[in-house]
Amino acid sequence: MAPTMTTPSTVYVFDAYGTLFDVHAAVRLHAGHLGPDAARLSGIWRAKQLEYSWTRSLMHQYLDFWTLTEQALDFAFEKMPHVDRAIRPDLLDAYRTLSVYQEVRPVLEGLKGRGMQLAILSNGSPAMLNAAVAGNGLEGLFDEILSVDPLRTYKTSKEAYDLVTTTFRCFPDTVSFQSSNRWDIAGAAAYGFRATWINRDGVPDEYRDLAPMAQFKDLKGLLTY
Ligand code: LAC
Repeated sequence: MAPTMTTPSTVYVFDAYGTLFDVHAAVRLHAGHLGPDAARLSGIWRAKQLEYSWTRSLMHQYLDFWTLTEQALDFAFEKMPHVDRAIRPDLLDAYRTLSVYQEVRPVLEGLKGRGMQLAILSNGSPAMLNAAVAGNGLEGLFDEILSVDPLRTYKTSKEAYDLVTTTFRCFPDTVSFQSSNRWDIAGAAAYGFRATWINRDGVPDEYRDLAPMAQFKDLKGLLTY
């Protein structure tokens, strides 16, 4: 599904975790050690990390995303007591430099080649984002790496998306915003961005009143229009 556009976007903004960086890559790296529990551990880890970001935003009880990532992993270990906790430091180290999905670099280079401005807007703390970007050698491709951390709240707060429009001094409807997270797409659509849902896992649609303008199975779709 390609979007209907009037003026083409020149600012392309990407969510980080799950959109550029593979959130399951840390567990996959240690799958040999974790055995059949690996996928479930990774799923609980990610789900709790996100839940904590939403509940803490609503409560105005901010803790940075790295702390939430650690707390979520600890919950996953508690939930699966037979998993060897000795792997904890290795999993956290791997999370700092998660690998990107295979199409990320060529797509970013393709958009850059078309003269687009590229940015990340993420719940990740600046240290996390810088480590992941540098770990994948992507430093030169982004004009801005925007973290919600100074705001002490998380997406889908409106203030989080404001970071893009204030940084680029632009209107929301000129921004192409990409996320694999449907909840983030709902937030971006509510804000007025041109939201593109990267539905990597082919999951059913939700938040139907806050629909994306386009949907692709990976980022390569961005180069098709
Ligand atoms: C991000 C996560 C939460 O904001 O996907 O990068």
